[in-house]
Amino acid sequence: MMPACGGARMWRQRADVVVVGTGVAGLAAALSAHRRGRKVVLLSKAGETATFYAQGGIAVVLPDNDDSVDAHVADTLAAGAGLCDPQAVRSIVSDGYRAVAELVAHGAEFDESAAGGWALTREGGHSRRRIIHAGGDATGAEVQRALDHAAATLDIRRNHVALELVIDDGAVAGVLVLSADGPGVIHAPSVILATGGSGHLYQATTNPEGSTGDGVALAMWAGLAVSDLEFVQFHPTMLFTGAQGGRRPLITEALRGEGATLVDARGEAVTAGVHPMGDLAPRDVVAAAIEARLAASGDPCVFLDARAVPDLATRFPTVTAACRDAGVDPAHEPIPVVPGAHYSCGGVVTDVHGRTAVAGLFAAGEVARTGMHGANRLASNSLLEGLVVGGRAGDAAARHAELAGPARVIVPDLPIRSVLPRAELQHAMTRHASVVRDGGGLHRLIDVLDAAAPRTIMSRNDFEDAALTVVAAAVADAALARTETRGCHHRSDFPDADPLQACSVVRGSLVPAAAGC
Ligand code: SIN
Repeated sequence: MMPACGGARMWRQRADVVVVGTGVAGLAAALSAHRRGRKVVLLSKAGETATFYAQGGIAVVLPDNDDSVDAHVADTLAAGAGLCDPQAVRSIVSDGYRAVAELVAHGAEFDESAAGGWALTREGGHSRRRIIHAGGDATGAEVQRALDHAAATLDIRRNHVALELVIDDGAVAGVLVLSADGPGVIHAPSVILATGGSGHLYQATTNPEGSTGDGVALAMWAGLAVSDLEFVQFHPTMLFTGAQGGRRPLITEALRGEGATLVDARGEAVTAGVHPMGDLAPRDVVAAAIEARLAASGDPCVFLDARAVPDLATRFPTVTAACRDAGVDPAHEPIPVVPGAHYSCGGVVTDVHGRTAVAGLFAAGEVARTGMHGANRLASNSLLEGLVVGGRAGDAAARHAELAGPARVIVPDLPIRSVLPRAELQHAMTRHASVVRDGGGLHRLIDVLDAAAPRTIMSRNDFEDAALTVVAAAVADAALARTETRGCHHRSDFPDADPLQACSVVRGSLVPAAAGC
Protein backbone atom coordinates (compact mmCIF):
# COMPACT_ATOMS: atom_id res chain seq x y z
CA MET A 1 0.00 0.00 0.00
CA MET A 2 1.22 3.48 -0.83
CA PRO A 3 0.09 6.77 0.71
CA ALA A 4 -1.98 9.04 -1.49
CA CYS A 5 -2.85 12.69 -1.41
CA GLY A 6 -4.93 13.52 1.65
CA GLY A 7 -3.58 10.60 3.69
CA ALA A 8 -5.75 7.88 2.05
CA ARG A 9 -4.02 4.56 1.39
CA MET A 10 -3.90 3.27 -2.16
CA TRP A 11 -4.18 -0.37 -3.15
CA ARG A 12 -1.86 -1.53 -5.96
CA GLN A 13 -2.02 -4.35 -8.47
CA ARG A 14 -0.42 -5.39 -11.73
CA ALA A 15 -1.74 -6.53 -15.11
CA ASP A 16 -0.41 -6.78 -18.65
CA VAL A 17 -3.49 -5.22 -20.23
CA VAL A 18 -6.22 -3.16 -18.56
CA VAL A 19 -9.44 -2.75 -20.56
CA VAL A 20 -11.75 0.06 -19.45
CA GLY A 21 -15.30 -0.84 -20.49
CA THR A 22 -17.24 -4.05 -21.08
CA GLY A 23 -19.34 -3.39 -24.18
CA VAL A 24 -18.62 -4.92 -27.57
CA ALA A 25 -15.24 -3.21 -28.11
CA GLY A 26 -13.97 -3.84 -24.58
CA LEU A 27 -14.93 -7.50 -24.50
CA ALA A 28 -13.64 -8.15 -28.03
CA ALA A 29 -10.35 -6.51 -27.02
CA ALA A 30 -10.09 -8.40 -23.74
CA LEU A 31 -10.77 -11.75 -25.42
CA SER A 32 -8.05 -11.09 -28.02
CA ALA A 33 -5.47 -10.06 -25.45
CA HIS A 34 -6.37 -13.03 -23.26
CA ARG A 35 -5.99 -15.39 -26.23
CA ARG A 36 -2.43 -14.12 -26.60
CA GLY A 37 -1.67 -15.23 -23.08
CA ARG A 38 -1.68 -11.82 -21.38
CA LYS A 39 -3.00 -11.11 -17.89
CA VAL A 40 -6.06 -8.97 -18.62
CA VAL A 41 -8.11 -6.95 -16.13
CA LEU A 42 -11.43 -5.39 -17.23
CA LEU A 43 -12.91 -2.42 -15.42
CA SER A 44 -16.67 -1.93 -15.48
CA LYS A 45 -18.10 1.25 -14.02
CA ALA A 46 -21.78 0.47 -14.47
CA GLY A 47 -23.91 -2.55 -15.21
CA GLU A 48 -25.37 -1.39 -18.51
CA THR A 49 -23.52 -0.93 -21.78
CA ALA A 50 -24.62 0.89 -24.93
CA THR A 51 -24.01 -2.39 -26.77
CA PHE A 52 -26.81 -4.02 -24.79
CA TYR A 53 -29.29 -1.40 -26.00
CA ALA A 54 -28.33 -1.54 -29.70
CA GLN A 55 -31.39 -2.57 -31.67
CA GLY A 56 -31.04 -2.43 -35.45
CA GLY A 57 -28.11 -4.74 -36.03
CA ILE A 58 -24.65 -5.12 -37.49
CA ALA A 59 -23.94 -3.87 -41.00
CA VAL A 60 -21.83 -6.51 -42.68
CA VAL A 61 -21.11 -7.66 -46.22
CA LEU A 62 -21.89 -11.36 -46.44
CA PRO A 63 -20.21 -13.56 -49.03
CA ASP A 64 -22.46 -14.98 -51.73
CA ASN A 65 -25.07 -12.26 -52.01
CA ASP A 66 -25.51 -9.21 -54.19
CA ASP A 67 -23.67 -6.89 -51.77
CA SER A 68 -20.01 -5.88 -51.96
CA VAL A 69 -17.36 -4.23 -49.80
CA ASP A 70 -17.21 -1.46 -52.41
CA ALA A 71 -20.93 -0.73 -51.97
CA HIS A 72 -20.72 -0.71 -48.15
CA VAL A 73 -17.65 1.55 -48.31
CA ALA A 74 -19.44 3.90 -50.74
CA ASP A 75 -22.51 4.15 -48.46
CA THR A 76 -20.31 4.80 -45.41
CA LEU A 77 -18.36 7.53 -47.22
CA ALA A 78 -21.57 9.15 -48.48
CA ALA A 79 -23.06 9.26 -44.97
CA GLY A 80 -19.77 10.60 -43.56
CA ALA A 81 -20.12 13.76 -45.69
CA GLY A 82 -16.52 13.96 -46.89
CA LEU A 83 -14.79 13.39 -43.57
CA CYS A 84 -14.30 9.61 -43.44
CA ASP A 85 -10.84 8.19 -43.96
CA PRO A 86 -11.50 5.90 -46.97
CA GLN A 87 -8.65 3.55 -46.09
CA ALA A 88 -9.89 3.13 -42.54
CA VAL A 89 -13.42 2.48 -43.79
CA ARG A 90 -12.24 -0.16 -46.27
CA SER A 91 -10.04 -1.84 -43.69
CA ILE A 92 -12.87 -2.15 -41.14
CA VAL A 93 -15.63 -3.06 -43.59
CA SER A 94 -13.45 -5.74 -45.25
CA ASP A 95 -12.82 -7.40 -41.90
CA GLY A 96 -16.49 -7.41 -40.88
CA TYR A 97 -17.54 -10.87 -41.96
CA ARG A 98 -14.52 -12.49 -40.26
CA ALA A 99 -15.29 -10.62 -37.02
CA VAL A 100 -18.97 -11.59 -37.13
CA ALA A 101 -18.00 -15.24 -37.77
CA GLU A 102 -15.83 -15.06 -34.64
CA LEU A 103 -18.78 -13.69 -32.70
CA VAL A 104 -20.89 -16.60 -33.93
CA ALA A 105 -18.13 -18.95 -32.75
CA HIS A 106 -18.62 -17.32 -29.32
CA GLY A 107 -22.28 -18.37 -29.50
CA ALA A 108 -24.11 -15.36 -30.98
CA GLU A 109 -27.23 -16.29 -32.92
CA PHE A 110 -28.68 -14.07 -35.62
CA ASP A 111 -32.18 -14.15 -37.05
CA GLU A 112 -32.67 -16.26 -40.14
CA SER A 113 -34.88 -15.66 -43.14
CA ALA A 114 -37.58 -18.03 -44.28
CA ALA A 115 -35.39 -18.95 -47.23
CA GLY A 116 -32.48 -19.89 -44.93
CA GLY A 117 -29.37 -17.84 -44.17
CA TRP A 118 -29.36 -14.68 -42.11
CA ALA A 119 -32.28 -12.28 -42.47
CA LEU A 120 -31.10 -8.89 -43.70
CA THR A 121 -32.73 -5.54 -43.01
CA ARG A 122 -32.08 -2.01 -44.20
CA GLU A 123 -31.49 1.27 -42.37
CA GLY A 124 -30.91 4.90 -43.33
CA GLY A 125 -28.12 5.54 -45.85
CA HIS A 126 -27.69 1.90 -46.88
CA SER A 127 -28.18 1.24 -50.59
CA ARG A 128 -29.19 -2.36 -49.89
CA ARG A 129 -30.19 -4.83 -47.20
CA ARG A 130 -27.02 -5.76 -45.33
CA ILE A 131 -27.91 -5.55 -41.63
CA ILE A 132 -28.01 -8.75 -39.64
CA HIS A 133 -30.05 -8.74 -36.45
CA ALA A 134 -30.96 -10.90 -33.48
CA GLY A 135 -34.12 -11.35 -31.44
CA GLY A 136 -35.84 -9.09 -33.98
CA ASP A 137 -34.65 -5.76 -32.60
CA ALA A 138 -32.53 -7.01 -29.68
CA THR A 139 -29.23 -7.37 -31.54
CA GLY A 140 -27.11 -5.62 -28.94
CA ALA A 141 -28.49 -7.78 -26.15
CA GLU A 142 -27.51 -10.91 -28.07
CA VAL A 143 -24.03 -9.57 -28.88
CA GLN A 144 -23.55 -8.66 -25.21
CA ARG A 145 -24.85 -12.07 -24.07
CA ALA A 146 -22.46 -13.98 -26.35
CA LEU A 147 -19.42 -11.87 -25.41
CA ASP A 148 -20.27 -11.92 -21.69
CA HIS A 149 -20.45 -15.70 -21.88
CA ALA A 150 -17.12 -15.94 -23.75
CA ALA A 151 -15.49 -13.60 -21.21
CA ALA A 152 -17.05 -15.22 -18.13
CA THR A 153 -13.71 -16.55 -16.86
CA LEU A 154 -11.85 -13.24 -17.34
CA ASP A 155 -11.00 -10.92 -14.45
CA ILE A 156 -13.84 -8.37 -14.60
CA ARG A 157 -13.96 -5.78 -11.81
CA ARG A 158 -17.47 -4.36 -11.41
CA ASN A 159 -18.07 -0.91 -9.89
CA HIS A 160 -14.50 0.17 -10.68
CA VAL A 161 -14.08 3.68 -12.08
CA ALA A 162 -10.93 4.59 -14.05
CA LEU A 163 -10.07 8.07 -12.70
CA GLU A 164 -6.86 8.84 -14.55
CA LEU A 165 -4.33 7.35 -16.97
CA VAL A 166 -0.87 6.94 -15.51
CA ILE A 167 1.72 8.12 -18.04
CA ASP A 168 5.45 7.49 -17.72
CA ASP A 169 7.79 9.31 -20.09
CA GLY A 170 5.34 9.27 -23.04
CA ALA A 171 4.09 5.72 -22.48
CA VAL A 172 1.14 4.45 -20.52
CA ALA A 173 2.00 2.83 -17.17
CA GLY A 174 -1.42 2.01 -15.73
CA VAL A 175 -4.67 3.41 -14.45
CA LEU A 176 -5.70 5.15 -11.25
CA VAL A 177 -8.93 3.43 -10.18
CA LEU A 178 -11.68 4.00 -7.65
CA SER A 179 -13.34 0.91 -6.18
CA ALA A 180 -15.27 0.02 -3.04
CA ASP A 181 -11.82 -0.40 -1.42
CA GLY A 182 -11.00 3.22 -2.19
CA PRO A 183 -8.50 4.55 -4.75
CA GLY A 184 -5.79 2.29 -6.15
CA VAL A 185 -3.51 1.81 -9.12
CA ILE A 186 -3.31 -1.03 -11.61
CA HIS A 187 0.19 -0.85 -13.09
CA ALA A 188 0.11 -2.07 -16.69
CA PRO A 189 2.11 -1.45 -19.88
CA SER A 190 -1.06 -1.53 -22.03
CA VAL A 191 -4.41 0.15 -21.45
CA ILE A 192 -7.41 0.01 -23.80
CA LEU A 193 -10.14 2.63 -23.54
CA ALA A 194 -13.51 1.16 -24.55
CA THR A 195 -15.76 3.40 -22.50
CA GLY A 196 -18.45 4.14 -25.09
CA GLY A 197 -20.00 7.53 -25.69
CA SER A 198 -21.18 10.71 -24.06
CA GLY A 199 -24.94 10.90 -24.55
CA HIS A 200 -25.46 12.25 -21.04
CA LEU A 201 -24.04 15.57 -22.18
CA TYR A 202 -27.73 16.11 -22.99
CA GLN A 203 -30.90 16.01 -20.94
CA ALA A 204 -32.31 13.08 -22.93
CA THR A 205 -30.39 10.37 -24.75
CA THR A 206 -30.68 6.82 -26.00
CA ASN A 207 -27.47 5.97 -24.08
CA PRO A 208 -27.26 4.10 -20.75
CA GLU A 209 -26.47 6.09 -17.63
CA GLY A 210 -22.71 5.40 -17.75
CA SER A 211 -22.23 7.20 -21.09
CA THR A 212 -20.51 10.27 -19.69
CA GLY A 213 -17.60 10.75 -22.07
CA ASP A 214 -15.14 9.02 -19.73
CA GLY A 215 -12.57 7.77 -22.25
CA VAL A 216 -12.41 11.02 -24.20
CA ALA A 217 -11.94 12.90 -20.92
CA LEU A 218 -9.20 10.52 -19.70
CA ALA A 219 -7.40 10.92 -23.00
CA MET A 220 -7.74 14.70 -23.01
CA TRP A 221 -6.42 14.97 -19.44
CA ALA A 222 -3.45 12.87 -20.56
CA GLY A 223 -2.81 15.34 -23.39
CA LEU A 224 -3.97 13.11 -26.24
CA ALA A 225 -5.47 14.19 -29.49
CA VAL A 226 -9.22 14.14 -30.08
CA SER A 227 -11.10 14.93 -33.25
CA ASP A 228 -14.58 15.30 -34.80
CA LEU A 229 -16.30 15.88 -31.45
CA GLU A 230 -18.67 18.42 -32.99
CA PHE A 231 -20.32 15.53 -34.83
CA VAL A 232 -22.80 14.39 -32.20
CA GLN A 233 -25.27 12.09 -33.91
CA PHE A 234 -28.91 12.56 -32.94
CA HIS A 235 -30.97 9.48 -33.71
CA PRO A 236 -34.08 10.66 -35.55
CA THR A 237 -36.46 8.50 -33.56
CA MET A 238 -36.15 8.44 -29.77
CA LEU A 239 -39.45 7.73 -28.04
CA PHE A 240 -41.06 11.02 -26.99
CA THR A 241 -42.40 10.97 -23.46
CA GLY A 242 -42.78 14.64 -22.63
CA ALA A 243 -40.04 16.45 -20.78
CA GLN A 244 -38.65 13.27 -19.21
CA GLY A 245 -34.83 13.17 -19.30
CA GLY A 246 -32.13 10.53 -18.87
CA ARG A 247 -32.07 7.39 -21.00
CA ARG A 248 -35.07 7.21 -23.31
CA PRO A 249 -35.97 4.22 -25.51
CA LEU A 250 -34.66 4.06 -29.04
CA ILE A 251 -37.17 3.36 -31.80
CA THR A 252 -34.95 1.53 -34.24
CA GLU A 253 -34.35 2.83 -37.73
CA ALA A 254 -34.91 -0.71 -38.99
CA LEU A 255 -38.64 0.01 -38.61
CA ARG A 256 -38.30 2.48 -41.46
CA GLY A 257 -36.34 -0.20 -43.34
CA GLU A 258 -39.43 -2.40 -43.00
CA GLY A 259 -41.87 0.26 -44.16
CA ALA A 260 -42.69 2.58 -41.23
CA THR A 261 -43.07 6.23 -42.22
CA LEU A 262 -42.39 9.53 -40.51
CA VAL A 263 -45.32 11.93 -40.38
CA ASP A 264 -46.17 15.08 -38.49
CA ALA A 265 -49.25 15.68 -36.33
CA ARG A 266 -51.28 16.46 -39.47
CA GLY A 267 -50.21 13.19 -41.11
CA GLU A 268 -47.90 14.92 -43.60
CA ALA A 269 -44.64 13.21 -44.60
CA VAL A 270 -41.64 14.71 -42.81
CA THR A 271 -38.92 13.94 -45.35
CA ALA A 272 -40.85 14.49 -48.60
CA GLY A 273 -38.65 16.43 -51.01
CA VAL A 274 -35.73 16.49 -48.58
CA HIS A 275 -33.57 13.65 -49.95
CA PRO A 276 -33.92 11.02 -52.69
CA MET A 277 -33.86 8.26 -50.05
CA GLY A 278 -36.78 9.86 -48.16
CA ASP A 279 -37.26 8.40 -44.67
CA LEU A 280 -34.22 6.17 -45.31
CA ALA A 281 -31.88 9.09 -45.93
CA PRO A 282 -28.77 9.20 -43.70
CA ARG A 283 -29.55 9.92 -40.08
CA ASP A 284 -28.31 13.51 -40.01
CA VAL A 285 -30.65 14.41 -42.88
CA VAL A 286 -33.71 12.83 -41.26
CA ALA A 287 -32.97 14.32 -37.82
CA ALA A 288 -32.56 17.79 -39.35
CA ALA A 289 -35.82 17.38 -41.32
CA ILE A 290 -37.66 16.50 -38.10
CA GLU A 291 -36.09 19.44 -36.28
CA ALA A 292 -37.13 21.79 -39.10
CA ARG A 293 -40.71 20.44 -39.03
CA LEU A 294 -40.92 20.85 -35.25
CA ALA A 295 -39.58 24.40 -35.47
CA ALA A 296 -42.11 25.29 -38.19
CA SER A 297 -45.11 23.64 -36.53
CA GLY A 298 -44.36 24.29 -32.87
CA ASP A 299 -45.28 20.66 -32.18
CA PRO A 300 -43.36 18.80 -29.46
CA CYS A 301 -42.87 15.62 -31.54
CA VAL A 302 -43.47 13.92 -34.86
CA PHE A 303 -44.74 10.36 -35.35
CA LEU A 304 -43.43 7.11 -36.73
CA ASP A 305 -46.32 5.23 -38.26
CA ALA A 306 -45.43 1.53 -38.04
CA ARG A 307 -48.95 0.16 -38.30
CA ALA A 308 -48.30 -1.36 -41.72
CA VAL A 309 -45.10 -3.17 -40.71
CA PRO A 310 -45.74 -6.91 -41.00
CA ASP A 311 -45.57 -8.93 -37.76
CA LEU A 312 -44.66 -5.79 -35.82
CA ALA A 313 -44.75 -7.26 -32.33
CA THR A 314 -42.66 -10.33 -33.20
CA ARG A 315 -40.19 -8.59 -35.51
CA PHE A 316 -39.76 -5.62 -33.13
CA PRO A 317 -40.43 -6.90 -29.60
CA THR A 318 -38.10 -4.40 -27.88
CA VAL A 319 -39.75 -1.39 -29.51
CA THR A 320 -43.21 -2.83 -28.91
CA ALA A 321 -42.48 -3.33 -25.20
CA ALA A 322 -40.98 0.16 -24.80
CA CYS A 323 -43.98 1.76 -26.49
CA ARG A 324 -46.46 -0.21 -24.41
CA ASP A 325 -44.59 0.81 -21.24
CA ALA A 326 -45.18 4.39 -22.31
CA GLY A 327 -48.87 3.76 -23.00
CA VAL A 328 -48.57 3.62 -26.81
CA ASP A 329 -49.74 0.62 -28.86
CA PRO A 330 -47.60 0.79 -32.02
CA ALA A 331 -49.80 -1.74 -33.84
CA HIS A 332 -52.75 0.65 -33.65
CA GLU A 333 -51.34 4.17 -33.30
CA PRO A 334 -48.31 6.13 -34.58
CA ILE A 335 -45.35 6.32 -32.18
CA PRO A 336 -44.45 9.82 -30.90
CA VAL A 337 -40.73 10.45 -31.55
CA VAL A 338 -38.09 13.18 -31.42
CA PRO A 339 -34.38 13.21 -32.31
CA GLY A 340 -32.24 12.12 -29.35
CA ALA A 341 -28.51 12.26 -28.56
CA HIS A 342 -27.27 8.87 -29.68
CA TYR A 343 -23.65 8.59 -30.79
CA SER A 344 -20.39 10.52 -30.78
CA CYS A 345 -18.86 10.22 -34.25
CA GLY A 346 -15.58 11.69 -33.00
CA GLY A 347 -13.32 10.74 -30.15
CA VAL A 348 -9.74 9.79 -29.31
CA VAL A 349 -7.64 9.74 -32.48
CA THR A 350 -6.52 6.19 -33.32
CA ASP A 351 -5.54 4.08 -36.26
CA VAL A 352 -7.58 1.02 -37.30
CA HIS A 353 -5.77 -1.07 -34.68
CA GLY A 354 -6.86 1.28 -31.90
CA ARG A 355 -3.35 2.69 -31.44
CA THR A 356 -3.12 6.24 -30.08
CA ALA A 357 -0.09 8.54 -30.07
CA VAL A 358 0.89 7.31 -26.57
CA ALA A 359 2.77 4.01 -26.52
CA GLY A 360 0.66 1.31 -24.88
CA LEU A 361 -2.57 3.29 -24.95
CA PHE A 362 -5.35 2.09 -27.24
CA ALA A 363 -8.98 3.08 -27.80
CA ALA A 364 -11.78 1.21 -29.56
CA GLY A 365 -15.50 1.55 -30.14
CA GLU A 366 -17.46 4.76 -29.72
CA VAL A 367 -14.72 6.42 -27.66
CA ALA A 368 -12.34 6.28 -30.62
CA ARG A 369 -12.13 8.23 -33.82
CA THR A 370 -10.67 5.86 -36.40
CA GLY A 371 -11.88 7.80 -39.44
CA MET A 372 -14.71 5.29 -40.03
CA HIS A 373 -17.60 7.65 -39.37
CA GLY A 374 -16.49 11.08 -40.58
CA ALA A 375 -19.16 13.72 -40.01
CA ASN A 376 -22.02 11.24 -39.59
CA ARG A 377 -21.98 7.53 -38.80
CA LEU A 378 -23.82 5.16 -41.10
CA ALA A 379 -26.45 3.14 -39.23
CA SER A 380 -25.31 -0.17 -37.70
CA ASN A 381 -21.64 0.50 -38.43
CA SER A 382 -20.90 0.91 -34.73
CA LEU A 383 -21.16 -2.71 -33.55
CA LEU A 384 -19.14 -3.59 -36.64
CA GLU A 385 -16.38 -1.13 -35.76
CA GLY A 386 -16.39 -2.15 -32.10
CA LEU A 387 -15.97 -5.81 -32.97
CA VAL A 388 -13.27 -5.31 -35.60
CA VAL A 389 -11.18 -2.60 -33.96
CA GLY A 390 -11.75 -3.97 -30.45
CA GLY A 391 -10.32 -7.32 -31.48
CA ARG A 392 -7.37 -5.71 -33.25
CA ALA A 393 -6.66 -3.39 -30.31
CA GLY A 394 -6.57 -6.40 -27.97
CA ASP A 395 -3.99 -8.08 -30.19
CA ALA A 396 -1.89 -4.93 -30.47
CA ALA A 397 -2.09 -4.25 -26.72
CA ALA A 398 -1.02 -7.82 -25.92
CA ARG A 399 1.95 -7.55 -28.27
CA HIS A 400 2.92 -4.21 -26.78
CA ALA A 401 2.73 -5.56 -23.23
CA GLU A 402 4.96 -8.47 -24.17
CA LEU A 403 7.59 -6.19 -25.71
CA ALA A 404 7.42 -3.42 -23.10
CA GLY A 405 7.52 -5.65 -20.01
CA PRO A 406 6.16 -4.61 -16.59
CA ALA A 407 5.23 -0.95 -16.17
CA ARG A 408 7.23 1.23 -13.78
CA VAL A 409 5.51 1.84 -10.44
CA ILE A 410 3.98 5.31 -10.40
CA VAL A 411 1.31 6.29 -7.87
CA PRO A 412 -0.46 9.54 -8.73
CA ASP A 413 -2.42 11.79 -6.38
CA LEU A 414 -6.17 12.00 -6.70
CA PRO A 415 -6.81 14.39 -9.60
CA ILE A 416 -8.30 17.87 -9.27
CA ARG A 417 -10.63 18.70 -12.16
CA SER A 418 -13.02 21.44 -13.27
CA VAL A 419 -16.61 20.42 -12.59
CA LEU A 420 -19.90 21.99 -13.61
CA PRO A 421 -23.09 20.67 -11.98
CA ARG A 422 -24.59 18.10 -14.32
CA ALA A 423 -28.09 19.55 -14.58
CA GLU A 424 -26.70 22.95 -15.55
CA LEU A 425 -24.37 21.40 -18.12
CA GLN A 426 -27.09 19.23 -19.68
CA HIS A 427 -29.48 22.16 -19.86
CA ALA A 428 -26.92 24.35 -21.62
CA MET A 429 -25.80 21.58 -24.01
CA THR A 430 -29.41 20.72 -24.90
CA ARG A 431 -30.24 24.36 -25.50
CA HIS A 432 -27.14 25.36 -27.47
CA ALA A 433 -25.43 22.28 -28.94
CA SER A 434 -28.27 20.02 -30.13
CA VAL A 435 -29.24 19.14 -33.70
CA VAL A 436 -29.01 22.76 -34.85
CA ARG A 437 -26.49 25.21 -33.38
CA ASP A 438 -25.39 28.79 -33.97
CA GLY A 439 -22.44 30.93 -32.97
CA GLY A 440 -24.35 33.03 -30.41
CA GLY A 441 -25.67 29.96 -28.59
CA LEU A 442 -22.28 28.25 -28.62
CA HIS A 443 -20.67 31.35 -27.10
CA ARG A 444 -23.33 31.31 -24.36
CA LEU A 445 -22.66 27.62 -23.79
CA ILE A 446 -18.94 28.27 -23.42
CA ASP A 447 -19.68 31.05 -20.90
CA VAL A 448 -21.76 28.59 -18.84
CA LEU A 449 -19.04 25.94 -18.99
CA ASP A 450 -16.40 28.50 -17.96
CA ALA A 451 -18.08 28.67 -14.54
CA ALA A 452 -16.87 25.14 -13.75
CA ALA A 453 -14.96 25.03 -10.46
CA PRO A 454 -12.03 22.82 -9.40
CA ARG A 455 -12.75 19.78 -7.24
CA THR A 456 -10.73 16.82 -5.98
CA ILE A 457 -12.20 13.75 -7.64
CA MET A 458 -13.23 11.32 -4.92
CA SER A 459 -16.36 9.58 -6.22
CA ARG A 460 -17.87 8.18 -9.40
CA ASN A 461 -20.20 11.14 -9.54
CA ASP A 462 -17.35 13.66 -9.26
CA PHE A 463 -15.51 11.83 -11.99
CA GLU A 464 -18.48 11.69 -14.37
CA ASP A 465 -19.31 15.36 -13.84
CA ALA A 466 -15.68 16.29 -14.52
CA ALA A 467 -15.63 14.10 -17.64
CA LEU A 468 -18.86 15.65 -18.93
CA THR A 469 -17.47 19.12 -18.25
CA VAL A 470 -14.24 18.68 -20.22
CA VAL A 471 -15.99 16.87 -23.09
CA ALA A 472 -18.78 19.47 -23.28
CA ALA A 473 -16.17 22.21 -23.57
CA ALA A 474 -14.41 20.28 -26.34
CA VAL A 475 -17.70 19.74 -28.22
CA ALA A 476 -18.57 23.44 -27.86
CA ASP A 477 -15.14 24.60 -29.05
CA ALA A 478 -15.20 22.24 -32.03
CA ALA A 479 -18.75 23.22 -32.96
CA LEU A 480 -17.91 26.92 -32.76
CA ALA A 481 -14.78 26.49 -34.87
CA ARG A 482 -16.59 24.62 -37.65
CA THR A 483 -18.31 27.49 -39.44
CA GLU A 484 -20.27 25.36 -41.88
CA THR A 485 -22.99 22.70 -41.92
CA ARG A 486 -21.70 19.18 -42.51
CA GLY A 487 -22.96 15.74 -41.50
CA CYS A 488 -24.58 15.88 -38.09
CA HIS A 489 -23.16 19.35 -37.34
CA HIS A 490 -25.83 21.87 -38.44
CA ARG A 491 -25.09 25.58 -38.01
CA SER A 492 -28.13 27.79 -38.66
CA ASP A 493 -25.74 30.73 -39.17
CA PHE A 494 -23.67 28.75 -41.72
CA PRO A 495 -26.28 26.57 -43.45
CA ASP A 496 -24.05 25.28 -46.26
CA ALA A 497 -21.04 23.00 -46.43
CA ASP A 498 -17.77 24.83 -47.03
CA PRO A 499 -15.40 22.84 -49.29
CA LEU A 500 -12.44 24.47 -47.50
CA GLN A 501 -13.54 22.81 -44.24
CA ALA A 502 -13.84 19.30 -45.68
CA CYS A 503 -11.33 17.94 -43.22
CA SER A 504 -11.08 16.82 -39.62
CA VAL A 505 -9.45 19.08 -37.08
CA VAL A 506 -7.19 17.25 -34.66
CA ARG A 507 -7.03 18.91 -31.26
CA GLY A 508 -4.36 18.04 -28.73
CA SER A 509 -0.64 18.04 -28.32
CA LEU A 510 0.50 14.46 -28.58
CA VAL A 511 0.17 14.06 -32.33
CA PRO A 512 2.14 15.41 -35.24
CA ALA A 513 0.55 18.16 -37.32
CA ALA A 514 -3.20 18.01 -37.80
CA ALA A 515 -4.35 16.40 -41.01
CA GLY A 516 -6.36 18.48 -43.43
CA CYS A 517 -7.32 22.10 -42.82
C1 SIN B 1 -31.06 1.76 -34.70
O1 SIN B 1 -31.38 0.61 -34.50
O2 SIN B 1 -31.77 2.56 -35.29
C2 SIN B 1 -29.73 2.24 -34.21
C3 SIN B 1 -28.63 1.54 -34.89
C4 SIN B 1 -27.37 2.36 -34.83
O3 SIN B 1 -27.24 3.29 -34.04
O4 SIN B 1 -26.50 2.08 -35.65
